[in-house]
Amino acid sequence: MKLFSQQQYFQDKFHKLHFKFYDSVNSTNEKCKEMCRKNYQNWVVIANSQSKGRGRYGRVWESQAQNIYISFAIKNPFINDIVTLNFYLGVTLYRALITSFPGIKNNLTLKWPNDVYFNTKKLAGILIENVDNELRWIVVGMGINTYASPQEIPCTATSLSIEGIHGEHLRTNVITNLLEEVYNREATEDYRRLFWEYSVKTHNDIYSYTKGDKLYRGILQCLHDDGSVTICDTNGQNIHITV
Ligand code: BTN
Repeated sequence: MKLFSQQQYFQDKFHKLHFKFYDSVNSTNEKCKEMCRKNYQNWVVIANSQSKGRGRYGRVWESQAQNIYISFAIKNPFINDIVTLNFYLGVTLYRALITSFPGIKNNLTLKWPNDVYFNTKKLAGILIENVDNELRWIVVGMGINTYASPQEIPCTATSLSIEGIHGEHLRTNVITNLLEEVYNREATEDYRRLFWEYSVKTHNDIYSYTKGDKLYRGILQCLHDDGSVTICDTNGQNIHITV
């Protein structure tokens, strides 16, 4: 679908949201924050590619054309509870992907702190940023590898297309299901429990967990109320990691 008709399609479907589509943009999160500061409302910014895509901890998010780069502004449903917000957004993205492709339910998991994995490889990531100090409005950026996986980390990342999942309106379907999850559903569930339920933990594979420069390897044991985790590392020792 061309950019203009995409914008029209989404605008007709979600009347209360305000869409901006770009072929290329520096970062959809940056644009969304700019627009929100001018006018606080439900902005949704979508781009085909980004020149300065960013990930958590100030990392670069490689942003080749044809993946999903989406940022949306939401009125924070859990003000002063950033931990629940984090779990909620992971669950939201996970559910949107399962609704779009029910056949991949057994392959898809959430990985702390907030990634979606397809088997042992990263498929999508989430970046949550404040618009101002009040935490009332926040901007959520999601990068979902639909066609390409980042070339820098080919061994640890994947895309739907690489996993054999194709579809004529694949990107439109995923975005539609995501926006329905976020804007048309009450945020009333126990998101820590759901995050745990959907989490990577039963695989035989050892997963890496990074915090800043530190890299931990192990299997998830417990997800705590404060958002931290305990993993069992490769020496069989329990390690507690905070966000
Ligand atoms: C991560 O896993 O480190 C989070 C990645 C978030 C990437 C998305 S792509 C859309 C939005 N715009 C950005 O610059 N980053 C987020």
